[in-house]
Amino acid sequence: MIAPAEFRGQFSVFEHTIYCASCSQGALSKTVQTAIGDFVQGWDEQGARWDVWTESLESARRRFAALIHARPEDIAVLPSASEAVFQVVSSLGLTSDAAILSSRLEFPSIAQVLVNAAGPRVKFVDQDGLSLTVDDYTGELLNGAKLVSVPLVSYKNGFRPPVEDIAERAHRHGAAVLVDAYQGAGAVAVDVTEMGCDFLVAGSLKYLLGTGGVAFVYVHPHWHERLQPVMTGWFGRVNPYAFDPHTVDFPPTARRLETGTPAVLSARVADAALSLLAQLDAKRVESYVAGLVSALQSVVEDQGLQWVGHGTGKGTWGPMAAVQTSDPAGLDAYLRSRGIAGSPRGQALRLSFHYYNTQADVLHIADALKDWSRDRRR
Ligand SMILES: Cc1ncc(COP(=O)(O)O)c(C=O)c1O
Repeated sequence: MIAPAEFRGQFSVFEHTIYCASCSQGALSKTVQTAIGDFVQGWDEQGARWDVWTESLESARRRFAALIHARPEDIAVLPSASEAVFQVVSSLGLTSDAAILSSRLEFPSIAQVLVNAAGPRVKFVDQDGLSLTVDDYTGELLNGAKLVSVPLVSYKNGFRPPVEDIAERAHRHGAAVLVDAYQGAGAVAVDVTEMGCDFLVAGSLKYLLGTGGVAFVYVHPHWHERLQPVMTGWFGRVNPYAFDPHTVDFPPTARRLETGTPAVLSARVADAALSLLAQLDAKRVESYVAGLVSALQSVVEDQGLQWVGHGTGKGTWGPMAAVQTSDPAGLDAYLRSRGIAGSPRGQALRLSFHYYNTQADVLHIADALKDWSRDRRR
């Protein structure tokens, strides 16, 4: 596998910035820049190239499937994670007494889709908004629950819930499991079979190194033909090119969740970005990135600062750590003046890593945090 330094060479942002904001938007690679240029040139010179554009979509589908150890027919491509979750939840045919378990670790847009679908039947199981244990999923809560929605990594602080244990317990009570892998896929190894999930969503724009407009949803094969979409469109047909307004047939695959014309430029970007990740071994990427995160956490502690979730004293962490501060915008501006790009959110500044970051980046952050803490003590 190529070394991090070589991978980093693909991303021009590092020529002037220590980029640690992949939790917000992945860095732009030369491969993606070329793909965008090719798309624009082809469109300009040849006009509509639906054959080429839809092939990019299929290629992105295949590559994402390979990344998470699934098959292309288990993947639907939708414009956003929220829409992907809506497509799943509204297709389950939930009865009016079916409960859904979520948590405050969930990205709000996902929870909002669930609350909009099931109102007070959505229960938030976490104790502190920052961490989750399998014991938060009590038998009492799980009885009557039809769906458990859990993030692979929380957008707030990088906390990784014990998703496999949660899935096993949920299944024992007859609930299906939906994992939002948006804050992990690309930098955390995902194997949907090992995870034991029924559904998994991930958008292209963060650790998958693409842009907005594409979210993938994995559907376990035993669900394919049980899903009855409420929202549909011609890309959700057995043959999208049949053009028969009277026929609403659904393919026996995850593609039945798709709707109208896909975001073809974003699909081209997603495909190019996934081609970069295909050169890497996801497990090695995960352990490399975990090493950077744990070094950053030590740095934060050494400076007498707190990282969000530290106080819970439990858990494992994804590709991000969040430095707790009453002035996230001020800390962000300070780090940017030192050439470090992070992502402020709530009462924290999030710093996140991918295979393009290095221990030298962590040392730069350590120096900057030290100076910032010293200046504030004055
Ligand atoms: C965990 C998580 N899920 C979902 C999203 C985005 O969802 P959507 O594609 O609906 O905007 C984000 C964006 O920050 C996120 O962090």
